[in-house]
Amino acid sequence: MKLIFVTGNPGKFLEAKELLGKYGIRLEQADIEVTEPQSDDLEEVAVKCAEEALKKAGERFIIEDSGLFVNSLNGFPGVYSSYVHRKIGCEGILRLLAGSADRSAYFMAALAYGEPGSGVRLFTGRVDGNVATEPRGKSGFGYDPLFIPFGSHSTFAEMSIEEKNKFSHRAKALKAFASWFLKKYERK
Ligand code: IMP
Repeated sequence: MKLIFVTGNPGKFLEAKELLGKYGIRLEQADIEVTEPQSDDLEEVAVKCAEEALKKAGERFIIEDSGLFVNSLNGFPGVYSSYVHRKIGCEGILRLLAGSADRSAYFMAALAYGEPGSGVRLFTGRVDGNVATEPRGKSGFGYDPLFIPFGSHSTFAEMSIEEKNKFSHRAKALKAFASWFLKKYERK
């Protein structure tokens, strides 16, 4: 079964491809231009982007918005994660956390599924953990070198895609989506 992932992020795509492949879903990447709305609600961003992509995509697709929420920074960078990473990188987050005893944080993913003729459906995933004291590892993207999920001593950047998928926010949202999607198509 084929599905499009609307994303310009190769890291997100590879993780989703690995996971959905296990469900027999063959993922293809499409770089459809969507303008992200101004909102500090991740779920709203994902749904609005999906509604816009729905006008352009001729077939069913997924689209995802995600971010890192650092508790002692009141959830910053959150929905602004991509922008903040471009501007100050992992080092910038480490500077903001210097001297902070609380290094807890979580990643959230809001995954929207769009199907021409039937609209949009939302799935979410969250993983809690801690921000490392220095960047570690070379894999992945974004804040992966900083994030140590609870239940592991490694950062996401020290893990293979398969290992990261055992913990990640994205994998959780994708698993919820995949079980719903397969049930929906089994019925047809
Ligand atoms: P967006 O979903 O395209 O707005 O980008 C979310 C941003 O959050 C990414 O560019 C990364 O900086 C960060 N992010 C989201 N998920 C992950 C992840 O799994 N690992 C590392 N950084 C992530």
